Amino acid sequence: MSTAAQAFEFDAVELIRTKRDGGRLSDPAIQWLIRNYTDGLVTAEQMAAMAMAIFYRGLDPRELSTWTAAMIATGERLDFSRLSRPSVDKHSTGGVGDKITLPLAPLVAACGAAVPQLSGRGLGHTGGTLDKLEAIPGWRAALSNAEMLARLDTIGAVICAAGSGLAPADKKLYALRDVTATVESIPMISASIMSKKIAEGTSALVLDVKTGAGAFMKQYEQSVALARTMVGLGQAAGVRTVALVTDMNTPLGRSAGNGVEVAESVEVLAGGGPADIVELTLALAREMLDCAGIAADPETVLASGKAMDVWKAMIRAQDGDPDAPLPVARHTEVVTAEATGYIATMDAMAVGLAAWRLGAGRAKQGDPVQAAAGVTWQASVGDHVTAGQPLFTLHTDTPERLPRAAEALQGAVGYAAAPLTRGPLVLERIDAP
Ligand code: URA
Repeated sequence: MSTAAQAFEFDAVELIRTKRDGGRLSDPAIQWLIRNYTDGLVTAEQMAAMAMAIFYRGLDPRELSTWTAAMIATGERLDFSRLSRPSVDKHSTGGVGDKITLPLAPLVAACGAAVPQLSGRGLGHTGGTLDKLEAIPGWRAALSNAEMLARLDTIGAVICAAGSGLAPADKKLYALRDVTATVESIPMISASIMSKKIAEGTSALVLDVKTGAGAFMKQYEQSVALARTMVGLGQAAGVRTVALVTDMNTPLGRSAGNGVEVAESVEVLAGGGPADIVELTLALAREMLDCAGIAADPETVLASGKAMDVWKAMIRAQDGDPDAPLPVARHTEVVTAEATGYIATMDAMAVGLAAWRLGAGRAKQGDPVQAAAGVTWQASVGDHVTAGQPLFTLHTDTPERLPRAAEALQGAVGYAAAPLTRGPLVLERIDAP
């Protein structure tokens, strides 16, 4: 069939109407829609309407698997099967203070796996791994596929920008969903994440599905459903896939931003760092090693300093200087505790918003971010504070951003009179759809 004839094989308006009214889309209709949207024949308006129809009506399992496969088919597929080490990847659905990839990738590589972390930039209140690493002087995110494969074989871990060749349909659709309030849809998030992971060619994948105030999925049941859906897609594609549903009501660690999160990750690699970051890093490392069939104890490897050696090699291999001082913000402001008591809650969304307002994140794709911008906090859930004591520090190069960031933190902390402990970080492990 000619390209012109293909363009008229289905009618986009008819397909939107079918989904809007609760009908199901056939395999050829979905394949046509995704291909022609990627090629520009189905318009952004039409795809936005379809995304909203799917937001409300969903996709059944057959539609979802066809949708995901159609997105993969728009781009290239990588192949890690010739590497000398088993490959295993981790993906987080995005949270505040979530710098886990930074210590985790070198740690799992130090245990013997190949860890390809094709990462993205932050959008909205959640940070982006590439934005964080770009705070390191000299570090560059872009690598060719050949460079990536070579580094995976020798160093074992690569964190780099996902090339435009992987699932280009998702790049376009994600940007559209982002500006049409259609991101928070279980089938569309699942297809978006899993199309990139399956196209990337990893043999095993551990998903960190965030739940709570600072996550895309705020309801626990929805997060579990998202995890089950993604595990199902991965396993159906032959990727050993496991998900941990983890708490994102409280921001992770003691920092949210770019350079400030790199500093905290280096502390973890050096054997210190906040307990929750260490706990989640080790929990995910154990799952990754299990999926990769490697019998190593990540806690011992972390303590040995080998993960730090891999980190330095990984940063140097992308022209970064792991020993150079990280950028320091030109302006800081302290926000004090509003009451005396034990911190019972710290709203991850509020902290993420404050970091974003300070310049750590971007309002739209392509905006620059500030390497030194972010929020650090001196105490977290379970700690005792006294009213007026310094609690948060705001960091930015542009002082006019400080008042709005401080405003985001008003009422962000809840206090209790009696001591309490933070609940578990890992809420559920899901290894079947
Ligand atoms: N991350 C993705 O890659 N896609 C989504 O839809 C949501 C989070």
